[in-house]
Amino acid sequence: MSQARIIDGKAFAQNLRDRLALQVADLRSTGAKGGQDLVPGLAVVLVGENPASQVYVRSKGQATVAAGMRSFEHKLPDTTDQATLVALVEKLNRDPAVNGILVQLPLPAQIDPAVVIATIDPAKDVDGFHVENAGRLALGLPGMVPCTPLGCMMLLRDVLGDDLRGKRALVLGRSTIVGRPMASLLLAADCTVTIAHSRTQDLPEECRRADILVAAVGRPEMVRGDWIKPGATVIDVGINRVPHADPAAAAEGRTRLVGDVHFAEAMTVAGAITPVPGGVGPMTIACLLLNTLTATCRQNG
Ligand code: GUN
Repeated sequence: MSQARIIDGKAFAQNLRDRLALQVADLRSTGAKGGQDLVPGLAVVLVGENPASQVYVRSKGQATVAAGMRSFEHKLPDTTDQATLVALVEKLNRDPAVNGILVQLPLPAQIDPAVVIATIDPAKDVDGFHVENAGRLALGLPGMVPCTPLGCMMLLRDVLGDDLRGKRALVLGRSTIVGRPMASLLLAADCTVTIAHSRTQDLPEECRRADILVAAVGRPEMVRGDWIKPGATVIDVGINRVPHADPAAAAEGRTRLVGDVHFAEAMTVAGAITPVPGGVGPMTIACLLLNTLTATCRQNG
């Protein structure tokens, strides 16, 4: 039985981070010669104590410093009100040492994320969540592109090269963070794009038509092997924690990570597939660094 090529997102992301670190070093030395301080700076704002968010924010900070950039972490209590957070974002907008601003989501219930995101200077919006950047992407104009879809596109281009043109792409999921921007990027690459979601009729049949299948629904192992067109390229954005496969280990409370695609089944049908973990996940932070460097360069002409 044929076996799909495993797309090594971890290695690709490390390679990208190494290349970004070289560019940052270059920018710093050029800036130093010009008497200018050209060290990219990323501000990450965390409100509250969400354990998963704490882990993400720590990894983002470490990756930023490892790339030779400056990391500014702002940790605010769970009780922070919206006006205080908006005031902090406005201060970061004005700070010339800060080139990128990321407000970690989710936010506590008393804060409207849309109001906070709308406050971020679009030129510093390294998440690409501001309506101006979302609108630019939807119109095919340059702007800041959300990190996860950007990472997915880089992996797709690595596997398929320029061969995206005319391909049938199906995006499973219509979130503003992944599904919608992913569809816009695929369209910009001249794919024929379908967005499928929980109300789509005959989802397996829609999936089976796709040369490129991007799964971003957050439903563990929902996409089965017989949903996949033979030879298709499968990008699995899902990161779902489920009980361990071994019942004895599960009884001890042990867990494992799975994607939105049933990996073992997909391996026998797909042409190439991203694993979970080690596929799309590592690309998100690498693309955050890429966006921070891009934002720095654009802000400095
Ligand atoms: N929470 C989970 N993923 C993300 C992300 O990519 N950006 C932000 N700001 N918050 C998140």
